[in-house]
Amino acid sequence: MVVVPARVLVVDDERGMREVLSTILGRAGHSVVTAADGQEALQLIGSDIFDLVITDLKMPGRVGGMDVVRAVKDIAPDTVVLVLTAYATLEVGIEAVKLGAYDVLTKPFNNDQVVLTVKKALDAKRLTVENLLLKRELKGQASFENLVGTSEGMQKVFTLIRRVAETSSTVLVCGESGTGKELVARAIHYNSPRRERPFVTVNCGALPEPLLESELFGHMRGSFTGAVSNKEGLFEVANGGTLFLDEIAEAPPGIQVKLLRVLQEPEFRRIGGTHTIKVDVRIIAATNKDLNKAVAQGLFREDLYYRLNVIPITLPPLRSHPDDIPLLAQHFLTVFGQKANKPALTVAPTAMRALQQHEWRGNVRELENVLERVVALAPGPEITLDDVAQWVRESSPNGEPKAPADIPPEGLDLECLINGIERGLLVRALERSGGVKKEAARLLKLNTRSLRYRLDKYDIEPADGASAAPEEDEGEEGD
Ligand SMILES: Nc1ncnc2c1ncn2[C@@H]1O[C@H](COP(=O)(O)OP(=O)(O)OP(=O)(O)O)[C@@H](O)[C@H]1O
Ligand SMILES: [Mg+2]
Repeated sequence: MVVVPARVLVVDDERGMREVLSTILGRAGHSVVTAADGQEALQLIGSDIFDLVITDLKMPGRVGGMDVVRAVKDIAPDTVVLVLTAYATLEVGIEAVKLGAYDVLTKPFNNDQVVLTVKKALDAKRLTVENLLLKRELKGQASFENLVGTSEGMQKVFTLIRRVAETSSTVLVCGESGTGKELVARAIHYNSPRRERPFVTVNCGALPEPLLESELFGHMRGSFTGAVSNKEGLFEVANGGTLFLDEIAEAPPGIQVKLLRVLQEPEFRRIGGTHTIKVDVRIIAATNKDLNKAVAQGLFREDLYYRLNVIPITLPPLRSHPDDIPLLAQHFLTVFGQKANKPALTVAPTAMRALQQHEWRGNVRELENVLERVVALAPGPEITLDDVAQWVRESSPNGEPKAPADIPPEGLDLECLINGIERGLLVRALERSGGVKKEAARLLKLNTRSLRYRLDKYDIEPADGASAAPEEDEGEEGD
């Protein structure tokens, strides 16, 4: 686990007390700044960044300890406060906690007790942030096991995920919309040694530049209109964990420069801040755009592209691995079936074929959405061709992809199209022959070995019971 040393401000008018606290907290690995009265503390809280403030209650001057607590909660609500007093009464304790202090320490104190209370307070802060993130994560599905796919292309992706998870290298995940880029990013994080630390997502295309900058790097109070308190940026929140920069191609030019800098040197300043913050964050970026092209068009910084593209993972579009469709369909059927209280749903072979031959321009997301609708609307326990037909209309009525009359301006994937047609005809020949391969081969004017080669290629199994039918090898060469 990555240990994150904290930055602590000690506020006390007694020099001896400041020195003792600095020494024991310093020994515990924290970096300590001190203030001799409330006034000095307020100045520091406004200009610097602290994880924790320990303040004495009674101090000379106009600004007392309670004012310090109030100011911290007002200016830097992410900072934890501990109150230190020789006059601890129940009332004092209640007031301090009401104002937002985490706990009250009494003087004289035991050194170990101070270190322990500081640790508890910092852990509590981290837990709050992590619980918030966890709640968000639980809404999304977080584990590697949610990635479904047995095709060669997906298996290669899984191998890459496992390998890259061990490292802290920057990863660039590319692929069309809906191919599972975010799922891959989560899988890397949750299989990495960082899994106990936060996985933080930011969509680089969702906010205007100034807001995105503040979201990523945080800000100090008053650094721009609306900056009413100091705020941690997502780089700080993700410390020790992973920051997922989604839609990276949409990052505005100013943000691209700043990201480049953090990737070169993992430190930055909050907006309006003077203090440099060092972080240990693994970056995973994702895009559905062709970044190479964006670089060529001058829309994306070439230097940032190279910094991000350390380990590229490219997700194939669903139409290039239709052999994964039955498994994916079954996976979504289980997920949505459970939610809709419709367990044990099955898909009729004709319906499955139609699903397999659909183009899925929206990739796995489109398949997922279609199955959600189908599960909600299907009248019986078996999903029929009728149930799916309206969502996969573009395919021919038999289910095979249609050969287009002409080549569209954006071009077409000839291999994928021919494979789709070939696969559909193989399945139909087997259906017509009742699963008897020799008969299916005769229908397609192939020898049995050549038929078997094609069935293996597309992972087609003859229907149950039929595969036991005798078949003779004619001894001819296959393909
Ligand atoms: N291999 C897969 N196995 C199971 N579910 C998947 C798989 N790939 C994608 N999904 C599901 O499809 C949906 C879309 O995936 P995700 O959000 O990761 O796509 P994306 O590539 O980030 O898309 P976009 O570019 O539009 O943001 C999600 O609900 C995800 O759970
Ligand atoms: Mg996405």
